[in-house]
Amino acid sequence: MTVCMRGKDIVSVYDLTPEEVWQTLKLAETFKLRQKAGLMDRPLAGKTLAMIFHKPSTRTRVSFEVGIWQLGGYALYLGASDLQLRRGETLADTARTLSGYVDGIMIRTFAHDDVVELARYATVPVINGLTDYLHPCQALTDIFTIAEKRGRLTGLKLVYVGDGNNVANALLHAGAKVGLQVVVATPEGHEPDQRVVAEARQDASRTGGSVELSNRPREAVREADVIYTDVWASMGQEAEEAQRKRIFQPFQVNQSLISAARPDVLFMHCLPAHRGDEVTDEVVDGPHSIVFDQAENRLHLQKALMALVM
Ligand code: CP
Ligand code: NVA
Repeated sequence: MTVCMRGKDIVSVYDLTPEEVWQTLKLAETFKLRQKAGLMDRPLAGKTLAMIFHKPSTRTRVSFEVGIWQLGGYALYLGASDLQLRRGETLADTARTLSGYVDGIMIRTFAHDDVVELARYATVPVINGLTDYLHPCQALTDIFTIAEKRGRLTGLKLVYVGDGNNVANALLHAGAKVGLQVVVATPEGHEPDQRVVAEARQDASRTGGSVELSNRPREAVREADVIYTDVWASMGQEAEEAQRKRIFQPFQVNQSLISAARPDVLFMHCLPAHRGDEVTDEVVDGPHSIVFDQAENRLHLQKALMALVM
């Protein structure tokens, strides 16, 4: 059964139904297989995506831009200083103006409420390309990647180790939608957002998943199928970097932590990685790591999202 997602905003994975999530994963798989077989689909011929970036990006920018081009459409890169937003034009006016020109808007910015506001006024779908609060395209890609590597999702144990940040929040939402057992291990005071935890618990109770918080990384990773980490200081937190390095040191993903999980544990990271901080070279470059397959999958997953909503 297919569910219609045309016109839908992708602001948070929590807003999607499990059916919508599974359908997105399925289409991403189809696009990936067809592309590897040299077949081109062009469902977005003649369509345009505006991409607003208020923070830097390698993966998000390139995968969206290449992705829409592969689907027959076109992307405009709009950096922080390119729009009248910088001179005080409101988000609401920007949303209504852009909606007259383009078929979708992707935005990466600081305040999550700005994406909510943009989506409220835009008449075309808005896709969240990362805020301080959530990173839904990343989390959907992550569950797609795990399903690809393991052939299933329900019942697997994913342990996120490090800062309870935007990536951790989005993973909680996505994991709960598909029945993963998600454990988030952070130092005290750096837990993921309480509202996200409550939302994820509510979803997990329906999907057979579970959500647990921990302050003990070694215990948390026991029997883990996946260990996931991200930077200790996210974009915008540069001033706290030195202090955070001290707090998060016991949460480094190194060979010793990997050895405490299942022998076939997968290592994931949204990238960019700060090698030597949250993860050692040995782990990122080691046999458990799937970080570059994960990065590639941003392309396939986002092509599916764009084709479904635009
Ligand atoms: N993972 C991710 O979103 O990477 P970029 O910051 O390079 O887009
Ligand atoms: N938590 C990181 C993710 C980068 C993709 C940040 O927000 O900088």
